[in-house]
Amino acid sequence: MDNNNYINIAIPKGRLQNQISEFVANKGVVIKEESRKLDYIDPPNGYRFLFVKNSDVPVYVNYGVAHMGISGSDVIYEGDFEFMRLGTLPFGSTRICIAGYDSKRFLLDNAGKDGNFIKDIRIATKFIKFTKDFFVNKGIPIEIIKLTGSVELAPILQLSDFIVDLVETGTTLKENNLSVIEEIGKTQVEIIANPSLYKLNYKRIDEFVKKLTTQ
Ligand code: PRP
Repeated sequence: MDNNNYINIAIPKGRLQNQISEFVANKGVVIKEESRKLDYIDPPNGYRFLFVKNSDVPVYVNYGVAHMGISGSDVIYEGDFEFMRLGTLPFGSTRICIAGYDSKRFLLDNAGKDGNFIKDIRIATKFIKFTKDFFVNKGIPIEIIKLTGSVELAPILQLSDFIVDLVETGTTLKENNLSVIEEIGKTQVEIIANPSLYKLNYKRIDEFVKKLTTQ
């Protein structure tokens, strides 16, 4: 099979990668990971796995260099592209929360009420679109500070009043003396495909999805 005949599948590096490899191995699809190699070709099945940064999975699929990808719904939402959403995997679900010092909770409780538009609430996050949509919908004026990691430092250093971030075990918040102020969403791990490439390759793409989603 030459390079053009593979189904390219973007896989996020980082916390989901091991869970994905383990899960698909149980479904008979082996993804071999060598330490710095950024792809793995599985000639018998015709798959080429691309190991990319979590937040870049939607970019690879949107531009069609990957036919499909596995990605958190949070990352898909931020990408704001059109995808075929082909299924959900039964692991990796997390909560999206507003977090910070409990002593500042009153800022949110009072926000938007009469006479409390004096100062925008500052929120540090990597989820810009999600955060903006959530607070606009609530009618609460905020200023977003975009960070791409270690977001918990922002309230500690008074860069922001709160953060909007993923909370999985809660350990990061606890170790930094921060608390969940409010849960505002849930994420799940989804299989996405490029709509045009799906039309051309639906049989092989469906076959892969079926392998992963059949018990
Ligand atoms: C995520 C998230 C939190 C942490 C939550 O960060 O942004 O910081 O995990 O997990 P916990 O509740 O189990 O502690 P990630 O590890 O992806 O790294 P990052 O700091 O680069 O965003």
